[in-house]
Amino acid sequence: MPMDRIRLARLRDRIMSPEAAAELFRDGMTVGMSGFTRAGDCKAVPFALAERAAREPLQITLMTGASLGNDIDKVLAEANVISRRIPFQADPTLRRKINAGEVKFIDQHLSETVEQLRSGQIAPVDIAVVEATAITENGGIVPTTSVGNSASFAVLAKKIIVEINLTMPLGLEGLHDIYIPTYRPHRLPIPLISPEQRIGLPYIPVDPEKIVAIVITEKADSPSNVLPPDRETNAIAGHLNEFLFHEVKAGRLSTSLQPLQAGIGTIANAVLHGMLDSPFRDLRMYSEVLQDSTVELLDDGRLSFASASSITLSKSAYERVLGQIERYKQRLVLRPQEISNHPEVIRRLGLICINTALECDIYGNVNSTHVGGTHMMNGIGGSGDFARNAHLAVFVTKSIAKNGAISSIVPMVSHVDHTEHDTDIIVTEHGLADLRGLAPRERARQIIEHCADPLYKDALRDYFLRASRRGGHTPHLLQEAFAWHQRYEQHGAMLAPQQEVVPA
Ligand code: COA
Repeated sequence: MPMDRIRLARLRDRIMSPEAAAELFRDGMTVGMSGFTRAGDCKAVPFALAERAAREPLQITLMTGASLGNDIDKVLAEANVISRRIPFQADPTLRRKINAGEVKFIDQHLSETVEQLRSGQIAPVDIAVVEATAITENGGIVPTTSVGNSASFAVLAKKIIVEINLTMPLGLEGLHDIYIPTYRPHRLPIPLISPEQRIGLPYIPVDPEKIVAIVITEKADSPSNVLPPDRETNAIAGHLNEFLFHEVKAGRLSTSLQPLQAGIGTIANAVLHGMLDSPFRDLRMYSEVLQDSTVELLDDGRLSFASASSITLSKSAYERVLGQIERYKQRLVLRPQEISNHPEVIRRLGLICINTALECDIYGNVNSTHVGGTHMMNGIGGSGDFARNAHLAVFVTKSIAKNGAISSIVPMVSHVDHTEHDTDIIVTEHGLADLRGLAPRERARQIIEHCADPLYKDALRDYFLRASRRGGHTPHLLQEAFAWHQRYEQHGAMLAPQQEVVPA
C-alpha cells in the first residue's frame, strides 16, 4: 500500500477497485470529475463506469474543469453514459453526439461553473472524482497536473472518490494554491495582486469522512496534440511581437510587457513560441493552461513565472517537467480555474490575452466555437473570461481554412462568442488590425486591409462598400451577410467560381 500517498491512516481501508467504486454511482447523478485540457483527469473510474453502463442503464451529468484526455469523453460517449456535459470538451466522438442533439452540452465560461454550483443555480454534485498525488495527514487532497474545478467539486460534493496516481511525483505537492472565494453577499476581494503570489492551501481541504473510495492508478496524462509552428503561425507571432514592441516604444508597455495569457491550440502555442525570438524579458504568465511554449520560455529564462490551472504538454516536455518538478515548482503555480480565470483578477493584473478565433467579421466580432454557425467545435473555454477583462484582447487566426475554401474573415460571423466590444487586436499571417479607439467603419477597413487573405479581399471590400452606401453605424447587407457561409455549405467554397466583384 502506498503509505506516503495516503498519510491519513484511517482512510487506507477505503482503497478499492475502480469497478467497486463505479458501483457507488446511480443513474441520473451529477458527477464532477477532475481534468483540464487533458491534464489531471481520472484514469480508472470513468472506464469502470462505461463497463457498468454496458450492463445496466447509467447516465450522468458530467462536469469537469475542461477537456479530458485518455479518450475518456470518447469512451463515455460511446457507452452512452453522458446525458449532459459541462463546461467544455474537445473530443470528436462526443462532439458528433452533441451536434446530433444526443448529448446536451452547456458551453460555459470556465470561471463560472463552480460559482453556479456554489450558489445552487445548477444541480449539485453528487460525487466528485478527483485525481490526486497524495492525501495529507488531515485528509487534504493534493491534485496532480491540473486543479481545474476539482477543489470546489470536492468541497461541494456529497461523496468523493480519490484516484491516487502513482506515476505522479510526490514533488508535485506544493505546486498548487487552493483558494476558494467566500460566499456572497459578504464575499471578500480575492487577495491576489501578482501572478507569483500564493493565497491559499497546497491541498484541497475536505472533510475526510466524505472520501468514500480510493482507487490506485498508474496511467499518465495524454500528451498534448498541438502541431509544431508553421509558416503562417510564425508570421502571426512575428506581427504580434512587432506590435507589442511598438507598444513598448510608445511607452505603453515595458519590455516585460503585462502578464500573458495564451489560449489552447496550435496557433496560440506557436504565438508564445515566437516570443523566444523577441526583445521581451522577465515575462510572467497568468493563464489557464500551460503548453510546451511555456516550458521553452521558462528554460530560456525569458519567462520568470507562470500561473495557470493545468499543465498540458507533449510527451517529452511532460517527462522533463515531471522529472525535474522540484526545479520547475519554484516558478510555477496551479490554481482553481475559478481563480486563474477570475474577471476580478484578470482586470486587476491587466493581462495581455491571446486566444484563437475560428472566424472574425469585418467589425471585430469573433466566433471561437461554432463551425458554420451551427456545429460545436470545442466550446468557449476561458476565452470569454479573458477577452472581456483583458488589458489587451488579441484574437489570432489563420486567414483561410480548408485550403482556402473558407475565409476566416467574413462579412458577419455566423455565431458570436466575443463581441466587437471585447476585441482589441486581430492578427492573421497577413498582418495585424489594431481596433482600439476605432469606430465600426474604421475597424472594417483595418481588418479587411491587414488581415484578410488576398483571395477574399476584393469581395470583402465590395461587401463593405455596398453596405456603407446603404448606411448605418455598422453597415451590413443583411440579405447577403451569411451568403458566404451558405455557399460553403452548398458548394464547398465561400466564393463562387467567377464571383462578380464591383471595384471599390
Ligand atoms: N470554419 C470552419 N473550420 C475552421 C475555421 C473556420 N472559419 N477555421 C479553422 N477551422 C478548422 C481548421 O481547419 C481545423 O480543422 P481540422 O481539425 O479538421 O484540421 C480546426 O478548425 C482547428 O483549427 P486550427 O487552425 O488547427 O486551430 P487551433 O488548433 O488553434 O484551434 C480553436 C482553434 C478555435 C478550435 C481552438 O482554439 C478553440 O477551441 N478555442 C476556443 C476555446 C478557447 O479559446 N479557449 C481559450 C482559453 S484556453
